Amino acid sequence: MNKKDIIVRDANAEDVKYAEKICTLIFESAQQRGTGIARRTPEYIGEKMLSGKAVVALDGERIVGFSYIETWSHGDFVATSGLIVDPEYRGLGIATRIKQETFRLSRTKFPQAKIFSITTSLAVMKLNTKLGYKPVTFSELTQDDEYWKGCEGCTNYDILVRTHRDKCLCTGMLFDPAQVQPQSEPKRGGLTPYIMAATNWFKNLSLRK
Ligand SMILES: CC(C)(COP(=O)(O)OP(=O)(O)OC[C@H]1O[C@@H](n2cnc3c(N)ncnc32)[C@H](O)[C@@H]1OP(=O)(O)O)[C@@H](O)C(=O)NCCC(=O)NCCS
Repeated sequence: MNKKDIIVRDANAEDVKYAEKICTLIFESAQQRGTGIARRTPEYIGEKMLSGKAVVALDGERIVGFSYIETWSHGDFVATSGLIVDPEYRGLGIATRIKQETFRLSRTKFPQAKIFSITTSLAVMKLNTKLGYKPVTFSELTQDDEYWKGCEGCTNYDILVRTHRDKCLCTGMLFDPAQVQPQSEPKRGGLTPYIMAATNWFKNLSLRK
């Protein structure tokens, strides 16, 4: 396999045929890690592809990576979920590319929304951090019951219930567009200081008259 041949792009109707395989990859990897995971059906994955909310990584006709986005709390939040890379294709930067693409998709489609993910994966924490996410308690994330229902299939779900959804083994990470510094003003340089000094000199001169 050649890393350069792997394409990462927004999913479309043509990709629904990969939904079954994606579910298998997600399920097998959760079993291998011994961690819980929100179970998704091929129909659910397919629907994300059809609604322009999913990203796929392809090596020719082979699906090698996937993730999707979904809005919660009436669009106040966007979650990036279901990130998976085929074990044979890990360590090649594919998750990095998928994450960048889901981030771009979220920011483009829902520019006002806070973006979050919950994860136990160090790799994902690193990727989120690079994109500007900060670790937060679950109180800062969506309180939409539908989102948290997704955790019911997780082996750690009892912890979430016991803590009244305050914390669990996953770390919550949040990108808040309101906290992002606006583009810094162009630095004053070149002739600007001299022009300002000259303007002030003329002002002072006219005041003295
Ligand atoms: C997590 C996963 C998506 C990473 O995919 P990948 O394509 O191998 O990741 P990348 O090659 O893009 O690496 C991304 C970063 O994570 C690091 N990383 C990758 N795997 C790692 C691991 N097992 N432990 C720690 N760091 C890891 C890389 O070094 C890289 O960091 P860097 O940019 O600072 O060098 C993949 O291992 C996977 O599918 N795991 C099972 C499913 C899963 O855990 N999904 C996340 C659920 S929230």
